[in-house]
Amino acid sequence: MSYKVTIIPGDGIGPEVADATKAVINATGLEIEWIEKHAGAEMVNRHGTPLPDETLDAIKENRFALKGPIGTPIGTGFRSVNVELRKRLDLYANFRPAKTIPGIKTRHEDVDLIVIRENTEGLYSGLEHMVVPGIVESQRVITEKGSERIIQAAFKIARRYNRKKVTVVHKANILKMSDGLFLEVAREVSRQYPQIEYDEAIVDATAMKLVMDPSQFDVLVMENLFGDIISDLTSGLIGGLGVAPSANLGDDYAVFEAVHGSAPDIAGKGVANPTALLLSGALMLQQMGEPDAAERIRKAVTKVIGEGKRTTMDLGGPCNTKEYVEALIEAME
Ligand code: NAI
Repeated sequence: MSYKVTIIPGDGIGPEVADATKAVINATGLEIEWIEKHAGAEMVNRHGTPLPDETLDAIKENRFALKGPIGTPIGTGFRSVNVELRKRLDLYANFRPAKTIPGIKTRHEDVDLIVIRENTEGLYSGLEHMVVPGIVESQRVITEKGSERIIQAAFKIARRYNRKKVTVVHKANILKMSDGLFLEVAREVSRQYPQIEYDEAIVDATAMKLVMDPSQFDVLVMENLFGDIISDLTSGLIGGLGVAPSANLGDDYAVFEAVHGSAPDIAGKGVANPTALLLSGALMLQQMGEPDAAERIRKAVTKVIGEGKRTTMDLGGPCNTKEYVEALIEAME
């Protein structure tokens, strides 16, 4: 079986971690044709847009894409390519597993959580306007349809990964109408999955409980902004953004990406840690129907990081990106 995957290297350390990821995935022996396309600030000069049609078309054609980080100007400039991609491809579910990697020192052992974040609505709908100078309004959009499909996605993922509980995270005590609707839909959907425990938790208390005892949660589902923050918190529980994979899933397409940014401070130095994009690649292989290759990559990561001798510098090791990739390929069974 051969596959075509669109790869968008991105900005900063993006090309370095993308090359590393391709090398390890290729070492599994899978036949993958990588179709390289681009997005980001440089495309604005060349195509007048940070997200050229040819990039979008390639993702649509190949259905699976692996994407490096893309920088977003703060305050002004073009809209985030990441947000734009999620909207244009209707990638409504952000899937963020957080599982302990032995060898990385963290506050808790055996963390094993999945955060599902709604990706297209909430405060990230991009609806902002100035009422009068000095007063700006942002609209937080919660719809019945958007809530239903993200809660369904959470329960389906819980079922597929044999998870026991889904916790709906909200702030319906304050945001009575919007999060009230989200909860109402969640309760309704949960009835279709009687074999999975259903729970509700207020977002601020959830943040505290996750820091103190993450084992009380299993799958967590929430709207966009809450999910953005809580999923970074759960990444912190397993060692930070350098090792946290993610997937943006829709009904038709899937874009897999690391959670970290373009790390301009270390870009071009050849020292970036590619683990997050590589584990996102493993999620992609799983989704493509290649669970064995995905598992070999995960095991190699666990082995090399667990031994701790040939990791990248951000994890306290002596290796640059290339040396770490060599260690991973040697460790692959
Ligand atoms: P960042 O994640 O790029 O960097 C934060 C810190 O973590 C830096 O010290 C960096 O060196 C380190 N770091 C990040 N990834 C690393 C890796 N793989 N290996 C080793 N060290 C790593 O976050 P920052 O500085 O807030 O954002 C920089 C740019 O990235 C911004 O333009 C932002 O918009 C963009 N960004 C893009 C994302 C995406 O495309 N999904 C996500 C987050 C930020």
